Amino acid sequence: MPTSSEVLHALPLPALVVGGDRRIADQNAAASDLFRGDLTGRHLATAIRQPALLDAVEAVIEGTTSTTARYLVTTHGQEQIFDVHIAALESDHSVLMAFVDTAPQEEAGQMRSDFVANVSHELRTPLTALTGFIETLRGPARDDAAARARFLNIMAEEAGRMNRLVTDLLSLSRVEDMARMRPTDLVDLDQVIAMVATTLGPAAADRQVELVIQPCDEQPVLVTGDRDQLTQVVTNLTENAIKYGREGGNVRITTRALEQVPAFKGPGVEVSVEDDGDGIDPKHLGRLTERFYRVDTHRSREMGGTGLGLAIVKHIVNRHRGRLRIESAMGQGSTFTVTLPAAAAG
Ligand SMILES: Nc1ncnc2c1ncn2[C@@H]1O[C@H](COP(=O)(O)OP(=O)(O)OP(=O)(O)O)[C@@H](O)[C@H]1O
Ligand SMILES: [Mg+2]
Repeated sequence: MPTSSEVLHALPLPALVVGGDRRIADQNAAASDLFRGDLTGRHLATAIRQPALLDAVEAVIEGTTSTTARYLVTTHGQEQIFDVHIAALESDHSVLMAFVDTAPQEEAGQMRSDFVANVSHELRTPLTALTGFIETLRGPARDDAAARARFLNIMAEEAGRMNRLVTDLLSLSRVEDMARMRPTDLVDLDQVIAMVATTLGPAAADRQVELVIQPCDEQPVLVTGDRDQLTQVVTNLTENAIKYGREGGNVRITTRALEQVPAFKGPGVEVSVEDDGDGIDPKHLGRLTERFYRVDTHRSREMGGTGLGLAIVKHIVNRHRGRLRIESAMGQGSTFTVTLPAAAAG
């Protein structure tokens, strides 16, 4: 059996043992960090001056098996809140105090509620438009055939936007569910690109954009991946380049085999999608892959964008243990490059 002191020192979170005499009998390294020093031998009431916490410890010394209380510290003006788990150690009437930092939990909670707020907002915009047009069609425009046709077109567009939003959200959540599963298909990226180019041909033609495909001609660019997801990555990047690039311009999709990528400690393959549009102000680059982040919200919405395309790309690339690099300069177009570990030879 390990001693309780061994267990205490093996714990990754700050923890203390308080004896029946209310003095701190032992503390681990994480506790030394938290309290910036050694508290052993000190009376608990002088070391930690927080009545609610002291009362909780007292209750356990007096016979309660276990309880929890809050501990607040302010370091460098930053407030930190800990949930302190207090439990009796029966053998020697001492008490174990373990300090659990609540910040990670609260951050996750905050992210979830931001996400729900964003989704609701994104859904409400088309919904408000639809409701408005329904009212108009029932009332003032009831007998106006031309207006009716125009409004129905807009309504179809708004309904389409809601549909895309829901599809993108589902695909984002599917990608997240699969985040820990290693993909297993052997995928030839040049084949994926050829397929995407065919699918997006009409969209490119609409904007008189020429898709210039430059495959890697030395060798096939093979990765171990999820074919559907990699198709989505190339689709989202190419679609953006067509939408936000120059009307009448070029979108260049290039693949390269890389002998050695330091981040992978091995060979990699790279796909880059380059447009010759207006480019992106550098101040936005760091945030582009956030959900719902758009540079020009109005323009993106007008083009039917949900602001989820690059968030999906980022998640898929992470699942493949790859890297996404975004380079852009105002007036000089943008290049989105995905680097993936090459499939193991053999
Ligand atoms: N090639 C590009 N050139 C200029 N801006 C771009 C380019 N690609 C993306 N952006 C900017 O980044 C934003 C986020 O792109 P993202 O693909 O995540 O969303 P979206 O295109 O608005 O919507 P969705 O892809 O879901 O239809 C876009 O709204 C656009 O402002
Ligand atoms: Mg997009």
